[in-house]
Amino acid sequence: MTRKMTEKKRILTGDRPTGRLHLGHYVGSLSNRVKLQDSYECYILIADAQALTDHFEHPDILQKNIREVVKDYLSVGIDPEKSTIFVQSMIPEIAELAVFYLNLVTVARLQRNPTVKDEMRQKGFENNLPAGFLVYPVHQAADITAFKADLVPVGKDQLPMIEQTNEIVRRFNSLYKKVLVEPEALLGDFARLPGTDGQAKMSKSIGNCIYLADDAEAVKKKVMRMYTDPTRLRATDPGHVEGNPVFTYHDAFNPNKAEVDDLKDRYRKGAVGDVEVKKCLIEALNHFLEPLRERRARYEQDEKKIDEIIIEGTRQARVVARETMAQVRSAMHIDYPFLSKGE
Ligand code: TRP
Repeated sequence: MTRKMTEKKRILTGDRPTGRLHLGHYVGSLSNRVKLQDSYECYILIADAQALTDHFEHPDILQKNIREVVKDYLSVGIDPEKSTIFVQSMIPEIAELAVFYLNLVTVARLQRNPTVKDEMRQKGFENNLPAGFLVYPVHQAADITAFKADLVPVGKDQLPMIEQTNEIVRRFNSLYKKVLVEPEALLGDFARLPGTDGQAKMSKSIGNCIYLADDAEAVKKKVMRMYTDPTRLRATDPGHVEGNPVFTYHDAFNPNKAEVDDLKDRYRKGAVGDVEVKKCLIEALNHFLEPLRERRARYEQDEKKIDEIIIEGTRQARVVARETMAQVRSAMHIDYPFLSKGE
């Protein structure tokens, strides 16, 4: 692996290890990572420190979930030979960068971040906001810039984070020296997959997710219970396809476009029942998930391999982050050569 020698552009992206990944993660970001890992140098960060910003009372959940998330990555086809998978808190340079970046943003700007605002409301943080939570976008800017990422494949809710990162990069580069890279967000084809209950997005806390690790039976149950068109009472009533999650999932996961078009056509006319549409979806989803299940099962027989992937990825990531850190310190004239002489 001579990744460091290549001229490839870089990707950095990541997930909080608070639970298993679901189909929403797949369409929003994972599919792009798999697609691009040949043409880009890929860094995939497991955001354990960020997860603590709202799970600080339960740090114990991280250890198990880190491995689960890595298995999810491997199951979708992220290849550890091509993508560097690492644990955020094991790269101290990220925390160090964040300390310096914190001076380059105002509290008012952080309070205006739409994603932070939404999450604050969701988590009931309005009246007792942990400072760590408010500043997590700055940490995320450190995640991205430590690797000088050019591209960040993410779901739509992460766009404000990329914007915030770019502001920090511009501020840093103009104040000190041009060492940081402005990243660009890359949205998946389906920027947002609705939950099985029809809500705007899949969310573990709402319990409206289909997980990448779900077995065929779980998929069947969840799809059969799925929200469809509430205005349609009988199979002979004309139904709505747009905004109907069952059809959104068909569009995202059913490779048989002729079947999907036919189902849509008959649904609009009132010539097909929900059960038939759902049965086809169950088949399409299980067809998509089957190779993932096989890959996961293979890795589950060799848990040590998972640890090795994380250890090696973290080691490689640290090399890159250290290099950026040295450039940042030099740009800010806080590399103090007189102090490092004695080392
Ligand atoms: N905030 C992202 C999420 O909740 C996870 C994340 C942390 C991330 N650091 C990142 C994503 C850097 C992209 C780049 O899903």
